[in-house]
Amino acid sequence: MAEKIILDVDTGHDDMVAIVMASGLEEIELMGLVAVVGNQILEKTLANTLKVCELIGQQAPVYAGMDRPLVRPKVIGGDIHGESGLDGPVFPTLVKKPQALHGVHFIIETVLANPHEITLVPTGPLTDIAMAIRLEPRLPSLVKRIVLMGGSMGRGNRTAHAEFNIFADPEAAAIVFGSGAPIVMMGLDVTLQVVLDENRSATYGKLTTRTAAMFNASMAHYIQACRRHGSEFPAMHDPCCIAYIADPSIFTTEFHDIEIELHDREKYGKTYAGTTNGSGTVQVGIGADADRFWKLLDRAFTRLP
Ligand code: BDR
Ligand code: CA
Repeated sequence: MAEKIILDVDTGHDDMVAIVMASGLEEIELMGLVAVVGNQILEKTLANTLKVCELIGQQAPVYAGMDRPLVRPKVIGGDIHGESGLDGPVFPTLVKKPQALHGVHFIIETVLANPHEITLVPTGPLTDIAMAIRLEPRLPSLVKRIVLMGGSMGRGNRTAHAEFNIFADPEAAAIVFGSGAPIVMMGLDVTLQVVLDENRSATYGKLTTRTAAMFNASMAHYIQACRRHGSEFPAMHDPCCIAYIADPSIFTTEFHDIEIELHDREKYGKTYAGTTNGSGTVQVGIGADADRFWKLLDRAFTRLP
């Protein structure tokens, strides 16, 4: 049976790939999408989410989530994802509208209506998930699990110590990691192993569907932006969560306790991995079989317009 998920996205380039993969794989049932501030301001991440869904024919409802972090001042990722948050593709005039209900309430209502069945998939800052947990303390025991992109067992990418999604709202991350919910963490340790190299770009460049055209125009921007920031090839951070749900055997994981640095200025937003003897509560991605990841994306493309 397909896994019921809610995607909580700050739609930039790799979030877009996560939406494409979730929409094109029969292993996934997308119940709805919530946009959160992150790669850009909320108005832009919401518009990007709606545009991607409309272009690929994804009918699931889209909601607006939180427009700022819980405590810290807002930081956005415009240096990578551009002025729009998804620079590169040109989208048709948007028709799809967001739902009136707040995204945090959508998360709570959906989990309460489907106890132990919903997997939350946050691929941006954890602000919406933390708010949902604070509003509905039963949430951590009623979700099936949370499969998130964020953090790192080693270096960061936004600072030397912190990965962007955690750095953008460390207090929210502390609430989520401390909630007791079953968590799978796809951090930089694993996502940096899945990169779009020249061969792979050339292969996708030959695809002619409108989904592939959007992907290729997006990746043209993403590749340049990543090069400007010192990475040779761009990483497929966010879709690793979807690939993990569709086929966990693609990844190797270890159990750790994860704590978030909230006090040290220099290390603010760092994820500390504690227990290494397998008794930790967070399943942390360590290794990825990139070829098998790409096969899943290939399959998703074949099922989308
Ligand atoms: C994360 O930060 C964002 O820029 C990406 O969308 C991804 O979720 C990687 O650190
Ligand atoms: Ca993201």
